Amino acid sequence: MKIIGTGSAHPKCAVSNEMLEKFLETTDEWITERTGIKERCVISSEKLEDLATDAANKALEDAGLTAADIDFIICSNVVNEFVTPALSCIIQGKLGAKCPTVDINAACAGFIYAMDMAEDKLRCKKAKNILIVCAEEPSRMVSWQNRSTCVLFGDGAGAAVVTEGDELKAIRLTTESMTNVLYYQRKLEPTPYIDKDENFEPLVMRGREVFKHAVSNSNKDIKTLLEETGLKTDDIKYYVLHQANRRIIDAIRNFLGVDEERVPHNVERYGNISSAALPALLDELNRGGKLQKGDKLVFSAFGAGFTTGACVIEWAK
Ligand code: ACO
Repeated sequence: MKIIGTGSAHPKCAVSNEMLEKFLETTDEWITERTGIKERCVISSEKLEDLATDAANKALEDAGLTAADIDFIICSNVVNEFVTPALSCIIQGKLGAKCPTVDINAACAGFIYAMDMAEDKLRCKKAKNILIVCAEEPSRMVSWQNRSTCVLFGDGAGAAVVTEGDELKAIRLTTESMTNVLYYQRKLEPTPYIDKDENFEPLVMRGREVFKHAVSNSNKDIKTLLEETGLKTDDIKYYVLHQANRRIIDAIRNFLGVDEERVPHNVERYGNISSAALPALLDELNRGGKLQKGDKLVFSAFGAGFTTGACVIEWAK
């Protein structure tokens, strides 16, 4: 597999820490010090499927392809307005594509899980060009009265077009069922037969536990992949990490012992946009002219589940 195009789209409403100070018992100082986040873009009048389609169209254009060239669409999404149909079906229609589609939910690690699925389809020759779209609106899962969670998240979409190639050098996925540290329960319709306690609440997160798992699992994933590929930390041009918290990013960078410029970040501008964070950051690097053919990149992400995913890939464009 190789990546041949990237795209991203963010909502227009940028919410600064100072704006949050107006209705939450919080400060810019606290948020900046604990998370590195200065602002996040949050959906107001937009629809998530439109952001996703925008990101996908940009990725197609970057790849020099049209929707007709796509054989399969994988959409990574945790929550959106529709339970059914799948978000990928809605995106397919908006793009004017004709191929089969599927949604996956591997939380913030969704982009890497989608890459793994794409790699398998390409290897089996079941597809030639695959569109991966990660579209997320975590701002709709949190209580905006809860300062411990709502300050952390933003909304957005990131996309990549992948095709046949041998640039994906190694990939690793892990899932560990830890459903009490990070969860959000959807409210279902009542029935005359429901006879159990149901407690629907906004996103619950035990931040410190998530923090520890995120750092230790990402470190382990990256170390394992470097060993597997025989690469040294300095052989990697960029470590493209999940953008949840600047302190998590710094902790992983310290473990690796690499310079700041090798670990790019935009969490300060967008907050945590779940699985869209990784392709959106990759798109920034791509469009900013930071990537050259042959550059080796490490991707690593973690999310609710607890899921993690990481890979080593060579830049092909
Ligand atoms: N403003 C001011 N005070 C706050 C705020 C806020 N926004 N949020 C919490 N506090 C308070 C708490 O109430 C607590 O007060 P208390 O001591 O009086 O009880 C105090 O600050 C410390 O709270 P902690 O939760 O212990 O603070 P911590 O240093 O652990 O930082 C944080 C919290 C930022 C959430 C951190 O634990 C973290 O980043 N965890 C990882 C979160 C993450 O990455 N989540 C997403 C990963 S998976 C995915 O992407 C879906």
